[in-house]
Amino acid sequence: MTTAPAAGRTTAVAARATELSKIYGQGETQVVALDRVSVDFVQAEFTAIMGPSGSGKSTLMHCVAGLDTFSSGSVRIGDTELGSLKDKQLTKLRRDKIGFIFQAFNLLPTLTALENITLPMDIAGRKPDKEWLDRVIDMVGLSGRLGHRPSQLSGGQQQRVAVARALASKPEIIFGDEPTGNLDSRSGAEVLGFLRNSVRELGQTVVMVTHDPVAAAYADRVVFLADGRIVDEMYGPTAETVLDRMKQFDAKGRTS
Ligand SMILES: Nc1ncnc2c1ncn2[C@@H]1O[C@H](COP(=O)(O)OP(=O)(O)OP(=O)(O)O)[C@@H](O)[C@H]1O
Ligand SMILES: [Mg+2]
Repeated sequence: MTTAPAAGRTTAVAARATELSKIYGQGETQVVALDRVSVDFVQAEFTAIMGPSGSGKSTLMHCVAGLDTFSSGSVRIGDTELGSLKDKQLTKLRRDKIGFIFQAFNLLPTLTALENITLPMDIAGRKPDKEWLDRVIDMVGLSGRLGHRPSQLSGGQQQRVAVARALASKPEIIFGDEPTGNLDSRSGAEVLGFLRNSVRELGQTVVMVTHDPVAAAYADRVVFLADGRIVDEMYGPTAETVLDRMKQFDAKGRTS
């Protein structure tokens, strides 16, 4: 199923996991959530991570994004090895180089949409690049809603605020854990369209966990996890090819 990426594609690595393992607990209750996973996320590419529940998708994303510690192996964001960083440096790297979009949008209810979008930069004491910010806000179609608080916005609009917040600081890489999981299909399609546009038009790097073959089809590449291992990879996915691949998992068992 694996097809080589198109010729001419940039291959600069935005994030890389090498032999990454994450083991929870000890003895009989031990769970190997990640089992020596090696994967590259190259710049300006949109990757979807798929796999059965419990296969390690969130764990992989959290470890690569510096949100969780790992048991062995290494993770690199750009040229920086996460393992070499002290807590403060890791916090700074997360703030400066990584954008997150979670399923629960994690917006602050007392702030307006615009204030939520610029919050990470405000905390970091960085001035937003006005031109870039306008472009991002325009792309996610929030221009008319910037003064609204999250409770005054629809679910899809809130998720678009979360997308804009992730894009606003021009992070090295954006991670989304089921960023459209709470949205109806139309709002979901919009958010996925923005993510894809941010890759195509802005050169953003995006990694997204999803259960949905239709969502995965927005990506350039799908990485399949099962039992904490990468079991397959697919370039140029369509909803049909992704669905077919997932059916093979069901038919042959998880570690096929
Ligand atoms: N804090 C924890 N303590 C112990 N085991 C954990 C912990 N967090 C996750 N696990 C286990 O690690 C494995 C991978 O979990 P993970 O959350 O990465 O799965 P996932 O692929 O994201 O699943 P889902 O699709 O259900 O979100 C699972 O077996 C899970 O039970
Ligand atoms: Mg998960």
